[in-house]
Amino acid sequence: MTLDVVILAAGQGTRMRSTLPKVLHRLAGKPMVRHVIDTARGLEAERTHVVVGHGAEKVREALADCEVHFALQAEQKGTGHAVAQALEGLGEGKVLVLYGDVPLIRRETLAGLLDGVDDDHLGLLTVTLADPTGYGRILRNAEGEAVAIVEHKDASQTELAIAECNTGIMAMTAAQLRRWLPRLSADNAQGEYYLTDIIAMAAAEGVRIVTAQPADPLEVEGVNNRLQMARLERAHQLATAERLMADGVALIDPTRIDIRGTLTCGHDVEIDVGCVFEGNVELGEGVRIGPHCVIRDSHIGAETVIEPHSVIEGTVIAGRGRVGPFARLRPGTRLAVGAKVGNFVETKNAEVGEGSKINHLSYVGDARLGRDVNVGAGTITCNYDGAHKHRTEIGDGAFIGSNTALVAPVSVGSNATVGAGSTISKDVADNALAVSRGRQISKADWPRPSKDR
Ligand code: UD1
Ligand code: CA
Repeated sequence: MTLDVVILAAGQGTRMRSTLPKVLHRLAGKPMVRHVIDTARGLEAERTHVVVGHGAEKVREALADCEVHFALQAEQKGTGHAVAQALEGLGEGKVLVLYGDVPLIRRETLAGLLDGVDDDHLGLLTVTLADPTGYGRILRNAEGEAVAIVEHKDASQTELAIAECNTGIMAMTAAQLRRWLPRLSADNAQGEYYLTDIIAMAAAEGVRIVTAQPADPLEVEGVNNRLQMARLERAHQLATAERLMADGVALIDPTRIDIRGTLTCGHDVEIDVGCVFEGNVELGEGVRIGPHCVIRDSHIGAETVIEPHSVIEGTVIAGRGRVGPFARLRPGTRLAVGAKVGNFVETKNAEVGEGSKINHLSYVGDARLGRDVNVGAGTITCNYDGAHKHRTEIGDGAFIGSNTALVAPVSVGSNATVGAGSTISKDVADNALAVSRGRQISKADWPRPSKDR
């Protein structure tokens, strides 16, 4: 049977106190609803439908690149009404109902739930909670079969004592939904069309309710406020950290790392506290990352050491590199084997050759440095004339004295030397010395001016 996934994402999320629709708030750097869409993709759903309402335009925009169908629920009249908005687009197979604000549900849990679904069996994910306040309760008959869900606000005292709760996640056939949804009524405490009422309809028709539980209750936890959001974030990050450690990565403190994307590590990688990884980051064997680094979309080759407080984006480091502390490598930075970029150095669109060093306080942009180049402290590539960017080329073995301004476009030949404090605006030939600064004059025994007494 084919699978349609319906993701409810029309609610307002008042308690987030935000202008951003709730389902677009980010968990691990990704809007919550995208986590759910990705999980649906993992189930190889034929179609994924997102029911939008509050902030519909913003949600559509944020998901413009996703292969999903949108259904508009103009007015929020309940979960049953929400699913009904997607009814038209459903196929003939199974339907799984998920929630845009329940981001950590796992594919395996859902696959298990879906396995049992056919014309005679409905799948319902339940969870037993110490404090079931607010949840729909699962009613079972004398044989222990689930036969109905009663919402908290409609429940009797005895029903309120039931600890088994509805997670909201359920799976059935499209034919059943077409049969049952039009029969829902809003005659209840909240005046809403409850999706949960289909459980009693199913039981009445002799369709068995097959219940399953998630491996971890966090999977079914929804987000209503920022505190819950932060709790889920930490739980998710800890799980990611534990996976990394199981794979052999040394995390100094698994509670102090944030991965907002994919982090791939070779053997014996060590990561100190407070680091943030975004997008796609690869760390080669034996790489060490110091405390409080931010690394985004970069490849860091084997045996490289990143010292504390470095910010690295769109960079490729071949291996045995040394970066920081306090370095900023911007997109297009390429460090060859053994290259060093030290403190308070910014690079952008810069290729740095094997063994070359930019150790202190420099800006190197739109440049190519050969191998074994030494760039002195305070050297700046003046790559921008206010309108265009220009390139700087520095040959193998060149030595750039401290506080040099390289006015691009310009080249310095191999083994050339630039005297400290120079402003270089003309090309320097191989093996040449270039100095451009006022000559020093010295006056012996010079009396310093003094105030008259
Ligand atoms: C729902 C269940 C309850 C369950 C609980 C688990 C119903 C009637 N009740 O209650 O049994 O224990 O979830 O969290 O289903 N939504 C829409 N359109 C609507 C209404 C809701 O898209 O018209 C979306 C919301 O954005 C939210 C989700 O559906 O993501 C759940 O809605 P909510 O109103 O929070 O339902 P609960 O009262 O929590
Ligand atoms: Ca809820």
